[in-house]
Amino acid sequence: MKPKILVTRQVFPEIVEALRGRFDVEHNDDDRPWAPDELARRLADKQGVLATVMDRIDEAVLAAAPALKVVSNIAVGTNNVDIPACTKRGIRVTNTPGVLDDTTADLTFALLMAAARRIAEGDAQVRRGDWKLAFAMQSPLGTDVHHATLGIIGMGRIGQAIAKRATGFDMRVLYNNRGRIPEADERRLNATWVERDRLLAESDFVVVMVPYSPAVHHLIGAAEIAKMKPTAILVNTARGGVVDDAALVEALQARRIAGAGLDVFEGEPKLHAGYLALPNAVLTPHIGSATRATRMRMCETAVANLTAALEGRAPPHLVNRELA
Ligand code: DGY
Repeated sequence: MKPKILVTRQVFPEIVEALRGRFDVEHNDDDRPWAPDELARRLADKQGVLATVMDRIDEAVLAAAPALKVVSNIAVGTNNVDIPACTKRGIRVTNTPGVLDDTTADLTFALLMAAARRIAEGDAQVRRGDWKLAFAMQSPLGTDVHHATLGIIGMGRIGQAIAKRATGFDMRVLYNNRGRIPEADERRLNATWVERDRLLAESDFVVVMVPYSPAVHHLIGAAEIAKMKPTAILVNTARGGVVDDAALVEALQARRIAGAGLDVFEGEPKLHAGYLALPNAVLTPHIGSATRATRMRMCETAVANLTAALEGRAPPHLVNRELA
């Protein structure tokens, strides 16, 4: 008897085929997101699940899945999973680090530039046939990216990939991280560690790139935004909840900062309604890793994790290491 597994979203056909060779697979063919009770019902007889960040794997779901041995997240972030609850039940939780760093750094830069150069507003104007701002001297103009100061909060692999891109724009890079990165990397990235308040005060662009945990909930709120330059732009491609959306909406409405580029939001897929009317916010639907090549690598990594866990081997990327 093959172990039973659930794949909660539609994945690539070659991935499903590979899985079917080893497992009895239930696959979300029509890609309709499942509500928590439906997810719980479908997990009732499964030993493994390939999940995404939109699947909340909490106590209630785990209680309905007595045979579950592994939650293989197709993501690097695992804040959708109650890890202590999984560990208590001996369920391994795995993730896909490393394979999405450059793709997420690319999107971060895309949002930074889109907000700086008002790309979304320009796109809307062209579609309306509105060219009156094209050669205006005082219209709401953009902000230079080149030679500006970029502040990165969270200098892990993705933070460093963002800093690397900044060197091509001759930017000055400040960073804040719990620990300093090795001196050779600071030199390579032309990056200087500073206290967070100094970073907020001196940066033209502030990028947050920390993994979500309760300790960083609302790391950027009204008090932090108040320390930023009125001309600054905030970019969040990390996780919803790291930025206080209500505080940011208010600051953007009052033009306390100039703009924002946001890929992640509190309570996704819901959105603070205030964002919708803000021309100075560029919004994308959590697409940091959404390129074909990267999503394929994420799926392959997640399959390797799941297969190892169900075959009694050490998964390459185990999050609850107590279960190694
Ligand atoms: C991740 O990997 O955590 C991303 O946010 C999901 O694409």
